[in-house]
Amino acid sequence: MPKRTNPVILAIETSADETSAAVLKNGKLKSNVIYSQIRQHRKTGGIVPEVAARAHIPKILPVIRQAAAQAGVQLTDISAIAVTRGPGLITSLMIGVDTAKALAFALNKPIIGINHLEGHLLSALPTSYKLQANPFPALGLIVSGGHTMLVLMRDIGKYKILGETVDDAAGEAFDKIAKILGLPYPGGPVLAKLAEKGDPRAFDLPRPMINQKNYNFSFAGLKTAVLYLDDKSRKADIAASAQAAIVDVLVAKTLQAAKEYKVKTILLGGGVAANQKLRRTLKKEIQKKIPYSTFHIPHSTLTTDNAGMIALASYYHYIYGNTSTFDRIKADPNLKLKSWR
Ligand code: KG4
Ligand code: ZN
Repeated sequence: MPKRTNPVILAIETSADETSAAVLKNGKLKSNVIYSQIRQHRKTGGIVPEVAARAHIPKILPVIRQAAAQAGVQLTDISAIAVTRGPGLITSLMIGVDTAKALAFALNKPIIGINHLEGHLLSALPTSYKLQANPFPALGLIVSGGHTMLVLMRDIGKYKILGETVDDAAGEAFDKIAKILGLPYPGGPVLAKLAEKGDPRAFDLPRPMINQKNYNFSFAGLKTAVLYLDDKSRKADIAASAQAAIVDVLVAKTLQAAKEYKVKTILLGGGVAANQKLRRTLKKEIQKKIPYSTFHIPHSTLTTDNAGMIALASYYHYIYGNTSTFDRIKADPNLKLKSWR
């Protein structure tokens, strides 16, 4: 049985290039403020870690203040402070973790260290769901700039990684192919937009590992295949064909795992979960081939990095009594997704 209920949680996320704070109250998100550093990183066409860390510093306190104000709470009303403690860029993570530690110390409140991947994993699961109906076993597909992963969830906090990428992540593939086509940073959403105007069957690109009987992914070969295309002038057709190849692999492996483990629920999470083609295709294929399972997509504001998903994940840690103190928490850039129950 859950130990505690109805917390007011302030969550902080700074693992890469978004400075974000959110407030959760009565099991619902009341605010989710995101400051994106995209403009700063456009010049370099990618994130320079030290630039990202420096950019978090002037924003972190104003973003927290704004999240509290939007939620109509005082910092003294807060039951606990949640923070992403990994994986991510160490210099970026430290800004969030140290801010959370200082607040937990000053307010004398518990602190909850959250794995960024658990945030993405639970971002489509409403907090009230667990208490109303049992959605487990569930399958989570995390697709972001850093990860591509299929996770079997036996319960909240009980996870098993079924497979992950052996090279590039899905978002990374979108970004790198966009770069090859000379599209502006960040490439993923730009490539997706361009793909809408192209023919997905124009180029026969590889679907790496699609027929292998495991849940691992590989996208580096697809990027290389695009690099070696003779005619790169048909950008929209290349974008559409590359997107179709990525989506085909993600959908095939997700359906295969969902069938094998007879899951009741399929959850999508991560930056690439914003991709319309992926959302539509997964939905259609799940309805057609495994109608007994329900598919949940995160709200669009919860797809790319944000503190809202960290607040949602921390809610469960809080009610199960899985909290810590400011002197026991540490950022870990290589933190693994593990069961905590
Ligand atoms: O989850 P996220 O914000 O950061 C990581 O944890 O990595 O994901 C960012 C990734 C980037 O690679 C970005 O290009 C990709 O998500 N992305 C998209 C779309 N929106 C964001 N990829 C494809 N289509 C989109 N609409
Ligand atoms: Zn992320």
